Amino acid sequence: MATRTSIRKAPERPHPRPRTALILGLAGLLAAAGVTALSAPAQAASTLGAAAAEKGRYFGTAVAANHLGESAYANTLNTEFNSVTPENEMKWDAVEPSRGSFSYGSADQIVNHAQSRGMKVRGHTLVWHSQLPGWVGSLGAADLRTAMNNHITQVMTHWKGKIHSWDVVNEAFQDGSSGARRSSPFQDKLGNGFIEEAFRTARAADPAAKLCYNDYNTDGVNAKSNAVYNMVRDFKARGVPIDCVGFQSHFNSASPVPSDYQANLQRFADLGVDVQITELDIEGSGSAQATSYSNVVKACLAVTRCTGVTVWGVTDKYSWRASGTPLLFDGNYNKKPAYTAVLTALGGSGSGGGGGSASCSVSYSKQEEWSDRFNGKVTVTAGSSAIIGWTTTVTVTSPQKISATWNGTPTWDSSGNVMTMRPNGNGSLAAGASTSFGFTVMKNGNSAAPVLGSCTAS
Ligand code: G3I
Repeated sequence: MATRTSIRKAPERPHPRPRTALILGLAGLLAAAGVTALSAPAQAASTLGAAAAEKGRYFGTAVAANHLGESAYANTLNTEFNSVTPENEMKWDAVEPSRGSFSYGSADQIVNHAQSRGMKVRGHTLVWHSQLPGWVGSLGAADLRTAMNNHITQVMTHWKGKIHSWDVVNEAFQDGSSGARRSSPFQDKLGNGFIEEAFRTARAADPAAKLCYNDYNTDGVNAKSNAVYNMVRDFKARGVPIDCVGFQSHFNSASPVPSDYQANLQRFADLGVDVQITELDIEGSGSAQATSYSNVVKACLAVTRCTGVTVWGVTDKYSWRASGTPLLFDGNYNKKPAYTAVLTALGGSGSGGGGGSASCSVSYSKQEEWSDRFNGKVTVTAGSSAIIGWTTTVTVTSPQKISATWNGTPTWDSSGNVMTMRPNGNGSLAAGASTSFGFTVMKNGNSAAPVLGSCTAS
């Protein structure tokens, strides 16, 4: 519970002290309400998401619902990324384990986490041969078609309007030189037309979502990517709805970033679809890994229709191939050289990669509200390194006035509308740890939410 530590004594305070005391009394009694109105990034372009946003892109990560309760995981996610992909929670075996019986709980957890923080969500994935419950494979053709279309429709309708891009069909082509479709219940029973049918059904279910085909080993020009390219070209020519192609981009020494990576992205973009890096991870360490990551990000930035990058996990600790340490944060959530390389490639200015720079982020949530006033709460979260102090600003719109504050030490500009808040006493926060301060805004007829400035850490 917040404790009152400071009452503003500004001459322009619009109400007498007894009213303020009443406000704070109520604040102490009432439960928090109406969470989440706005958030502000740490310093301009000092996080992956903020730097990507300045380039008109998103920077996302795969997320597992069962790690969201781990504070370092959640704080790294919340600080650095502005898009999420549920790693397993939207797959067929998770959402429709038995026919017609849908379970959305784990994926909803991720979607709600993202939405309440202004992050985008990628949907992964509707039609895939893997993580497919057994009942799907045992259906006859007619029944399978009905089940596939029903699955797409039900799942997309559940999250309608909340998913920016859906991997409608995943990994439908074989590896190697054949350029053939991969054997799967869908391919084997419905034939090539299943992909087209899935996309048409998807468009009808959520017309606002971007519909992607997603695959791996299609990152350079090769037989497999040529086959996908020909399919996309055919879809565009015939008006089959497709908006984007996802390039998973799982790399290691046996499968490095191809030299024609950018050219391959560009040739797909030239067909009239967006391209997205959807599952990026690169095994390795140190500067070699960093250079590869940098090259991928630069390639995306060089292709106008490359709309965003998603890495396949927050931390090496939980990677699907953890022993290859393929991600941007190590198992202790320290920034790796690859992190710095990506941030730099995005035009960002923070440091990290072992440097341990001080950074913080702030987010606002409205708490109790009355007809004449409301309480606000600002949460200050340290970045990936411990910090010893922080400063941020809260600006209200005239004739609003801040009449009380707690859990912080405020100073004011001459207008009285801009409050600079610093810690009460010790401002130390461990990496990823949070603290909060509160304040009361007298509306004076204006209910606008306050605007947060950036957070500066020391
Ligand atoms: O949750 C269970 C757990 O309860 C159980 O004890 C454990 C024992 O096996 O399994 C756990 O489930 C595992 C799940 O990941 C969550 O960790 C599954 O066995 C495992 O198969 C599953 O692996 C996922 C894999 O897709 C399945 O194909 C990976 O997490 C996920 O990263 C990976 O993601 C794929 C993309 O969807 C498509 N592109 C390739 C990419 C990497 O393989």
